[in-house]
Amino acid sequence: MCVLVTGGSGRLGRVLLDGLVESGFDVRAVSRVARPGSGGVRWFVADLTTGEGVAEAVRGADVVVHLASAPYKGRYTGRVELGGTSALLAAARDAGVRHLVYTSIVGVDRVPWGYFQTKVRAERLVAAGGVPWTIVRVTQFHQFVDQAFTGLARLGFMVADPGVPAQPVDVRDVASRLLSVVRRGPAETVEEYGGPEVLSMAEAAEQWLRARGLRRRVLRVRLPGRLGRAFRAGHLTTAAQPAGKITWGGYLAQRP
Ligand SMILES: NC(=O)c1ccc[n+]([C@@H]2O[C@H](COP(=O)([O-])OP(=O)(O)OC[C@H]3O[C@@H](n4cnc5c(N)ncnc54)[C@H](OP(=O)(O)O)[C@@H]3O)[C@@H](O)[C@H]2O)c1
Repeated sequence: MCVLVTGGSGRLGRVLLDGLVESGFDVRAVSRVARPGSGGVRWFVADLTTGEGVAEAVRGADVVVHLASAPYKGRYTGRVELGGTSALLAAARDAGVRHLVYTSIVGVDRVPWGYFQTKVRAERLVAAGGVPWTIVRVTQFHQFVDQAFTGLARLGFMVADPGVPAQPVDVRDVASRLLSVVRRGPAETVEEYGGPEVLSMAEAAEQWLRARGLRRRVLRVRLPGRLGRAFRAGHLTTAAQPAGKITWGGYLAQRP
């Protein structure tokens, strides 16, 4: 079975490509830049915002795992998530692709945040796109939380709302869930996938500081407004099973 991955050079994509190759799939990936074929992956140059190279990459693929995204990049975000997803769906329809898997984020439909609203619109495109589909909404990746805390720590202090639950997940677990979804085939539903534990943002920050050997004050600040209420209501977490196995502490211990 031939599987094409968009966003194959990203945080999740790199791990998924390894898993697909190890599982014996015929693996392709797209990137906006030329990458030498290595590790069993055939790379195609394609840009979802212009459509350049997309049809060539999709032709012959049985499954497309669509991970490409460009969060918090102004108008470009919508061009990738909406225009790009539409272009990919059109190419997948033409090529008779049997399953398109789209990764979204837990809470996109409940948290009033601009990027999340764009993801919801992209989900609707996928569900109406004429290609058998599965949408997998995932909680925040460990690396994403790690990078956010690294940025905060540069301020000289940390800010966290202790009432906000977080359920970070490891990309190795997400990749293995996506492999199961690829093997299973289209469900035409929205599924959720989260990390193995729910902890407060403040706890997550304290664990991160200990693991990094840093001393910073954690300012416990209640996030204001609708966004704060949505976060405190737990909309970034999910009770869905199966869930990931690698904890935040486990990730930190491996990446001191
Ligand atoms: N990060 C998180 O915490 C998180 C949580 C839940 C769900 N997700 C979802 O999981 C997916 C993967 O996230 P990630 O964090 O692994 O992504 P990432 O590391 O930010 O990588 C983004 C990828 O998108 C590709 N891309 C961007 N613009 C493109 C364009 N115009 N044409 C083709 N490819 C383009 C990039 O490829 P090149 O640069 O090689 O072109 C890159 O591989 C996304 O759908 C995201 O919304 C992420």
